Amino acid sequence: MNPANPGRTARTPWIVGVSGASGTPYAAAVLRALLAAGESVDLVVSRAARLTLLDETGIGFRDAHWRSDLRAWLARGADGKPDTFAAESADLGAVRHWAAGDLAAGPSSGSYPVKGMLIVPASTACVAGVALGLSKDLLQRAASVTLKEGRRLVVAVRETPLNGQTLRHLVALDEAGATVLPASPAFYAGATHIQDLVDFVAGRALDAAGVPHTLYRRWEGDLGGGRTTTHTHYPNSAEG
Ligand SMILES: Cc1cc2nc3c(=O)[nH]c(=O)nc-3n(C[C@H](O)[C@H](O)[C@H](O)COP(=O)(O)O)c2cc1C
Repeated sequence: MNPANPGRTARTPWIVGVSGASGTPYAAAVLRALLAAGESVDLVVSRAARLTLLDETGIGFRDAHWRSDLRAWLARGADGKPDTFAAESADLGAVRHWAAGDLAAGPSSGSYPVKGMLIVPASTACVAGVALGLSKDLLQRAASVTLKEGRRLVVAVRETPLNGQTLRHLVALDEAGATVLPASPAFYAGATHIQDLVDFVAGRALDAAGVPHTLYRRWEGDLGGGRTTTHTHYPNSAEG
């Protein structure tokens, strides 16, 4: 219930922060799955993430045209081809966009109601900034707020190899209560397509957040089971 407007349920979104690490398909998969699960999303795309998105998809993300840019982004799979799942489920009415430079935005304050935050993908610069509490932009500020409020923070770090400095920052995040989730796909779930690998990482991020999804086939204790089961993303595809 919303105390300012009795009878209306308060919007309590997940914050999705997209930082400038490689892996914008991970962010798209998480966003699609959150929307499919009926969740609201507050989206923050860092300045550097605009470069990775442009590099990986050819899409320029503009604050003034974020809705059409986001729709174009969610409408394509990790291979750059149209994603039918996205086209069916993407209700962008549940998405609110905040510019990365807007430090007066809702997610800047702990009194702004949110369920938690997923940073997908997280750059090592973002990891450092959150570990040190730099709050150099809205994404980092929102992550620091999430931690100080004791809410769920999932950090899908994407870099390899990792140096000692980043490893120490990741330990600091773990100790502060975040879930450190390397963007590290597994192969036991029967992946036959690049999107399956992406969906595995996205699914594990949603598992950490406690959001239900069907993005990947869970381990059921049968060796080789992943090779005999139709995977979830392209169930009708001849190429798999
Ligand atoms: C095309 C491209 C790919 C990048 N990939 C990574 C990456 O995988 N991991 C990483 O930590 N940084 C990566 N970077 C560097 C980050 O974008 C850079 O450190 C930036 O300062 C991150 O800022 P942000 O955390 O505010 O988004 C990449 C940069 C570019 C342009």
